[in-house]
Amino acid sequence: MINVTKTYLPDIEKYKKYVDEIYKNSWVTNNGPLVQKLEKRLAEYLGVKNIVLVSNGTVALEIAYRTLGLKGFVVTTPFSFVATTSSLVTNGLLPIFTDIDPGSFNIDPEKIESVITPNTSAILGVHVFGNACEVEKIEQIANKHDLKVIYDAAHAFDVKYKEKSVLNYGDISTLSFHATKLFHTIEGGALIINDDALVQKARYLINFGIQNAESIPELGTNAKMNEFEAAMGLCVLDDIEQIKQSRSVIFKTYQTQLEGLIQFQEQNQNATQNYSYFPIVLKNEDQLLKVQKALNEQQIFPRRYFYPSLDTLSYIEPKQYCSNSRDIASRILCLPIYVDLDENDLNFIIKIVKENI
Ligand SMILES: Cc1ncc(COP(=O)(O)O)c(C=O)c1O
Repeated sequence: MINVTKTYLPDIEKYKKYVDEIYKNSWVTNNGPLVQKLEKRLAEYLGVKNIVLVSNGTVALEIAYRTLGLKGFVVTTPFSFVATTSSLVTNGLLPIFTDIDPGSFNIDPEKIESVITPNTSAILGVHVFGNACEVEKIEQIANKHDLKVIYDAAHAFDVKYKEKSVLNYGDISTLSFHATKLFHTIEGGALIINDDALVQKARYLINFGIQNAESIPELGTNAKMNEFEAAMGLCVLDDIEQIKQSRSVIFKTYQTQLEGLIQFQEQNQNATQNYSYFPIVLKNEDQLLKVQKALNEQQIFPRRYFYPSLDTLSYIEPKQYCSNSRDIASRILCLPIYVDLDENDLNFIIKIVKENI
């Protein structure tokens, strides 16, 4: 069976050494030494100032909203994983959807200003499939209207915009380190926070709001990463260049073999690619279903990322309609891409796609 992705598992002996260390220290969670070590190594590797590790990418978004004190309406994209929107709703914020650019699949900055009202507190963009948003245009709009900017950068690990980490844009960027991601900690996530003064607040928020034994200055939650997860992250980080290299070979093979036959995502020309996903856009939903069925019959399971478009969610009121997002969501399919995807299997997937378009 071939799935859209497969978790990268590092050398078990290396992982066991970290587990031995955890057993020796009996320190398994609560900002342990491995979490601290991983924070330092990631900050250096990614080229960011402040990184706070948390238990997953969804909670990273929630902590970001609470750290920035968001209220009211948040302008966001309907083309993302459901957690981008549901995390707003569960925090009492109303998502106001702005349609996407049908080429980049990212929020269209030209459409943002028309939906800003006095109740808007922030813009929440997503670097969809690691493709950097128009970060400079979004920054200009946010400055003009005095809004906060958050990027759901769940897919954008190690993406550079104009040679610097894209994670440095916005007030806060969040990452997901779920097992399916390019870099992972089994479950996990992170906040990249630009303002040094806000880092401490985020650290209280992920630890029940506690400052010390006597003081609880914030209304917090439990969002801590544990030592076993950090150990996995340290091992995966050692192998990250090789992981990226293997994925890039698969990505480029799809690209060369399917070029001209199918619509690809248009890459931001000022940004690098991290080869996290390989999305294709079919002519229509019928063609998508035909390709999907043909692949499924061979035990190959691509995924309809992202479907359905989030402006169709039943719990969002008032109802909103974003035609580009609904259109792309109805005909986009992410093909399998992971480190040890066999060359023969890759060619077989390409052959089936070609035969069904
Ligand atoms: C764009 C996006 N945001 C948020 C999340 C949530 O991350 P997690 O699964 O770590 O909670 C995901 C997960 O895949 C995602 O793709």
